[in-house]
Amino acid sequence: MTIFITGATGYLGSYLVRDLLLGSQERLALLIRASSVEEAQRRLWRALQIHLDFEQFLELNARRLDIYLGDLTQPDLGLSESDLARVIATTSSIIHCAASLNRKSATTCFNVNLRGTLHTIKLARAINEDHGLRRFSYISTAAAAGKRQDELVPEPDMIDWNRSDYDPYARTKKFGEYMVRELLTTVPVTIFRPSTILGDSSRPPTTQFDMVRAFALFAKMSFLPFKNNIRLDIVPVDYVSKAILTIHQKEKPSFDDYNISSGPASLTYKEIVASVARGSKGHSKIFIPALEKPFRSLIRALTHTPRKWQINRMATIMSVFLPYIYYNTVFDNHHIVAELGESPTPFNVYAAQLLGFALEHKFRYPYQPWPEN
Ligand SMILES: NC(=O)c1ccc[n+]([C@@H]2O[C@H](COP(=O)([O-])OP(=O)(O)OC[C@H]3O[C@@H](n4cnc5c(N)ncnc54)[C@H](OP(=O)(O)O)[C@@H]3O)[C@@H](O)[C@H]2O)c1
Repeated sequence: MTIFITGATGYLGSYLVRDLLLGSQERLALLIRASSVEEAQRRLWRALQIHLDFEQFLELNARRLDIYLGDLTQPDLGLSESDLARVIATTSSIIHCAASLNRKSATTCFNVNLRGTLHTIKLARAINEDHGLRRFSYISTAAAAGKRQDELVPEPDMIDWNRSDYDPYARTKKFGEYMVRELLTTVPVTIFRPSTILGDSSRPPTTQFDMVRAFALFAKMSFLPFKNNIRLDIVPVDYVSKAILTIHQKEKPSFDDYNISSGPASLTYKEIVASVARGSKGHSKIFIPALEKPFRSLIRALTHTPRKWQINRMATIMSVFLPYIYYNTVFDNHHIVAELGESPTPFNVYAAQLLGFALEHKFRYPYQPWPEN
């Protein structure tokens, strides 16, 4: 039987696919947005080339992957009638990892994260009625905990319906959790809530640069407009993938939800910036919390500058990122640490090599084209 995975072309999804291809014998069915199988394969190769060489990709693709063209926002995930029947007949479990992380667009978040999750739930129900679904794993986010200030949020308190949310992304992911729980009552469901996923603790290459850019900027600044003891909960992508797959493959996990985070071991900004500065030859920092308000106003103003000035993109990244800094909140991780028997590698162990890679490649992954011969 087969694991059906959404979001395989994304950053985390590529790790899930790699780890299942290299660490298990499972067959994988991937829902990919494309207008032809050829385009889907090219998109998948782009996502997986950080992990596999082309020969490996072709071999594993032929032997272990079923590619389905589709789109979460379409009824029946946009699957053709015959593909839908095949997915229902062959799927044993689902990992729903796809989402829109576009915090600025409520429309996109509603369509992908709510309607898309509802369509995936309907597929899960059809499979469950047909022959039983072994597990539905929903990749949520620690941001579902809503606006918090100076907290270590215990796992049982993550969802609080009386709290407002960071943004449309956090709101729709939180309601996604609710739909999964309410509508899949006869299916084993596991909710995973990663905190900020940043870099791979085992090797420098990355395809995600927005957050690294923000840290690179902080590493250059002499004055930082926040308190130095603020903590930020960062977790490496290799740990997140390992955690999700270990629990997804278990017959009886001990819990039904897992924060995948650094929790109480999260580093302070002072520790993070010091380790990032080592990778960028930055100088020592002075933290000036009184500059917080003017700095936030400046960033807000810069998001409205003309594109040709080329500061608008960085300002937008910062404006999304800053609230997560100032809330100074981390997420308890004792469920996953108890179950895996290991904690995530702290960010300061691998931050310098991550930033080194980003600077060397000018914040762009050196993608190889599909070999034409
Ligand atoms: N990155 C983080 O720091 C973080 C933290 C906590 C939780 N998470 C969660 O982890 C999951 C993966 O995040 P990520 O960072 O890997 O995101 P990502 O790189 O942006 O990948 C998103 C994936 O979702 C797919 N997708 C988006 N809209 C779709 C649609 N309409 N139909 C089908 N597929 C669609 C994308 O496909 P295309 O390639 O076609 O766009 C892509 O494969 C998400 O559920 C996210 O909420 C991420």
